[in-house]
Amino acid sequence: MTNKDEVIVCRCADVKLSEIQELIKDGCTTLDEIKRLSRACMGQCQGKTCRNLIMQELSKAHSIPIEAIKPSRFRPPVVTISLGSLAEEDNHEK
Ligand code: FES
Repeated sequence: MTNKDEVIVCRCADVKLSEIQELIKDGCTTLDEIKRLSRACMGQCQGKTCRNLIMQELSKAHSIPIEAIKPSRFRPPVVTISLGSLAEEDNHEK
């Protein structure tokens, strides 16, 4: 194991570069496949930090331009919402 194996790609879900590379080696060809199997891009930042890094790995591994890789779907909430603000919203409706 090298230091490169310990590089964290997705800090929110604690997914390492070596895990991403292993998934690609096992046949993953899309960001959505990697997302579902590793939970990368599903953390608090919703992939703002790691999405492009994973797309770069896919691009490099499959020798295709990064523009040819389909981005994953964005699902709300895309920004952090505190429980307090949700509770306030609920109180206004009563
Ligand atoms: S760094 Fe991957 S979801 Fe935030």
